Amino acid sequence: LRQKFLEAISSATNEATLEDLRVSAVGKKGEISLKMRELGKMTPEERQTAGPALNALKDEVNSALAAKKEALGDAALDARLKGEWLDVTLPARGRPAGTIHPVSQVTEEVIAIFADMGFAVAEGPQIENDFYNFDALNIPPHHPARQEFDTFYMHRDADDERAPHVLRTHTSPVQIREMEKTGAPIRVIAPGRVYRSDYDQTHTPMFHQIEGMAIGKDISMANLKWVLEEFFAAFFEIDGIKTRFRASHFPFTEPSAEVDIQCSWVDGQLRIGEGDGWMEVLGSGMMHPKVLAAGGVDPEKYQGFAFGMGIDRIAMLKYGIPDLRAFFDSDLRWLRHYGFSA
Ligand code: PHE
Repeated sequence: LRQKFLEAISSATNEATLEDLRVSAVGKKGEISLKMRELGKMTPEERQTAGPALNALKDEVNSALAAKKEALGDAALDARLKGEWLDVTLPARGRPAGTIHPVSQVTEEVIAIFADMGFAVAEGPQIENDFYNFDALNIPPHHPARQEFDTFYMHRDADDERAPHVLRTHTSPVQIREMEKTGAPIRVIAPGRVYRSDYDQTHTPMFHQIEGMAIGKDISMANLKWVLEEFFAAFFEIDGIKTRFRASHFPFTEPSAEVDIQCSWVDGQLRIGEGDGWMEVLGSGMMHPKVLAAGGVDPEKYQGFAFGMGIDRIAMLKYGIPDLRAFFDSDLRWLRHYGFSA
């Protein structure tokens, strides 16, 4: 009996088994308890030997139970401590941080450069009306230039005779809004989203432009050229980068020029500021007298230059991004590759 219980106790692996053992050995109906009850039926001689033997056995079993219970408790605590162990020397887990989109980055860069030249930043609405997007910019209703813009019109009911809203096709309407707001003289840039119904490797229906405008008593084409050359040198970090002004036509400027920057292709790689190739980056010119007048500025007293540049376009050039469409796909792999850390 002694061996049976002591062995069972020592091999118990949890407190429930131990408790069952206690009940079956020294509980009310336990084997040892029953044996002790039989002592009364024994002869005094028998009792003299059996009594102390049973008492000793009971004590031994009880203390084995107590010892085992303590050991199991310690083991459980050890196990818990092991599980909850903390390695304070582990390096901290990085938190996923977002990146700055190349368009935002480049917009900031452009703003900073023009701010150094004294240009303030303005913004206009993306949902424009016909007047600001076209009429005020010397593009009357049936002018062919309207077609060139691939405009998204927001249609009104058939019996509604008001002019339709449009998604602005360029940032030039901000020229008019800013003249109305502050008059002349003025120097502002206006970055923002513009929309045209066009889609291929170099065109997306939404893209970004930055408008520039300077009006004063004797602002000339020479000022325009200087400002743009300063800008390109700073933006591409190439002193003396060459620019080319090509005569062009916009209804809102006269004369007008499209501006190219020097570049070349080496092993399929575009190199800005090298070689004898040219890349078109913006439209510009001297503001048309009708445009000044539409904005409430007297064309007899003031003149100004204006330009409109594709932000996505110059971002592609500066950071070697081949496909414009990828800018707006929200592909995290692309964003991690081309994004700027905050
Ligand atoms: N608004 C013209 C465009 O979107 C660019 C431009 C702006 C040209 C200002 C001349 C002056 O193409």
